[in-house]
Amino acid sequence: MTWRSSAGQALVKSCGKRFTAFDHLIKRRRALMSLRDDAMKVRENAYAPYSNFKVGAAVRATDGAVHQGCNVENIAYPEGTCAEAGAIAAMCAAGGSREIAEVYVIADSPTPVPPCGGCRQKLAEFAPRDTPVTLATVDGAELKTTVGDLLPGMFDASHMERT
Ligand code: THU
Repeated sequence: MTWRSSAGQALVKSCGKRFTAFDHLIKRRRALMSLRDDAMKVRENAYAPYSNFKVGAAVRATDGAVHQGCNVENIAYPEGTCAEAGAIAAMCAAGGSREIAEVYVIADSPTPVPPCGGCRQKLAEFAPRDTPVTLATVDGAELKTTVGDLLPGMFDASHMERT
């Protein structure tokens, strides 16, 4: 009896652990799906009359809040802003956590849209190097990378140690 119950308990414990791991995976997948939905939705609000290339970005901060941004162009072309910059500005404006936990960027491109150089540096300002970034197309293609992989050899505070 004792043997059975302890074996049973061990089995329940091991199943429980596996379930927790599985549950965690499902939750992560669900969170990513909703980040995709947010990026897809905000993309519709992009103001891109000059390039006709609409981009949507969603960042999830470490407090769980999701912030969105779209590209906003200008007749004085260099004054336009990228979707990622908009999402980062929204995160700062919200006043909560300013540490990014996950990023999703989407556009109607033939291959998953890569952030421009400036946006890579902007993301690196608020996200640890191992932060997951998903680049996507509206057709459903996805490329998973990280902030660090997007910006190898990045300029950071360590380079200013002598100041
Ligand atoms: N753009 C973004 O918003 N994010 C990117 O990751 C790539 C490029 C915008 C800037 C501009 O409004 C348009 O896409 C074409 O370059």
